Amino acid sequence: MKRYRRILPVIFGAGMLAAAISGCGGSDGGKQIVRIGHNQATDHPTNIALMEFEEYVESKLGDKYNIEIYPSELLGSQTDMVQLTQTGAIDFCVASNSILETFSENYTLFNLPYLFSSADAYHMAMDDPQIVDPIFESTKKAGFEAVTWIDAGTRNFYTVSTPIESPQDLKGLKIRVQQSPTNVRMMDLLGGSATPMGFGEVYTALQSKVIDGAENNEMALTSNGHGDVCKYYSYDMHQMIPDILIGNCAFMDDLSEEERSIFEEGFALINKVEREEWVKAVEAAKDKAANEQGVQFLYPDTKPFQETCASMHTEMLAQYPDLQPIYDKIQEHNAQHPSEAE
Ligand code: GCU
Repeated sequence: MKRYRRILPVIFGAGMLAAAISGCGGSDGGKQIVRIGHNQATDHPTNIALMEFEEYVESKLGDKYNIEIYPSELLGSQTDMVQLTQTGAIDFCVASNSILETFSENYTLFNLPYLFSSADAYHMAMDDPQIVDPIFESTKKAGFEAVTWIDAGTRNFYTVSTPIESPQDLKGLKIRVQQSPTNVRMMDLLGGSATPMGFGEVYTALQSKVIDGAENNEMALTSNGHGDVCKYYSYDMHQMIPDILIGNCAFMDDLSEEERSIFEEGFALINKVEREEWVKAVEAAKDKAANEQGVQFLYPDTKPFQETCASMHTEMLAQYPDLQPIYDKIQEHNAQHPSEAE
């Protein structure tokens, strides 16, 4: 799998790959093939949850649909996969909320640093239809809609050799961020040099010292091997950015009412299974990183990081005033679930 992972996206551009997998409406012995792409390894909670989805939908509708899951960037980067989903070359993909910001400005909201006061507030907000529905439905004109969210924990800085204890320590460091304007702005404010690139390129960039570090949840250390190179992981807790499962609108609209409700049950199952698996996977990742990879975990005061990026909230609301009511709703969840540290 590892070999394919690097080679395939290079050989096939997204367009060529789309042609190679024969595009929309592929069929397998009379069954309709439903293709789902994502960028995580096969033992990652996202893949485990999608496999349960496959089993569930096929147990109910297996005479009609054959679900195929393509992990590990086999169908290209997240940006490639979103484009393939838009055109219907594939039916679903998992994309980070950060990447979706470049397709719809509404997604900017969930990329804000320190948007949620605690993990509980984040979970409650993402489970609240009044918060997510207007955003999830907002890309229908662009050909896709979000069907569920997937927990991707908390993002923190990690570096090859520089412990990050305060924003000052980021000064002059090249830090990989996801390709989104919000992430670049956050990095600029914190003083590091933002280096946007796709997830699949990060390991080599760290190893060859093109970058000094990156920011992500703990799984990146183990599942993606970044902890083999980076020895300091600093809990500054700057973002809780969900992953989003998006579906092609034409595919969704073609489902009968009964089929649609089975798919909806399947989406809810993905969310449930992934969240359960996530808790276990993060614990295992921390253990492996500390004890096998020699990663040192640091717990800096998060306040200076938070204060440095605080202006981003007002900037975003001034730029996208329509998001204000949703932002306010999030504050209600924050008030009910304040930071565990307070
Ligand atoms: C996490 C997230 C992915 C994302 C990656 C990244 O792993 O779950 O969706 O692609 O971070 O930093 O690019």
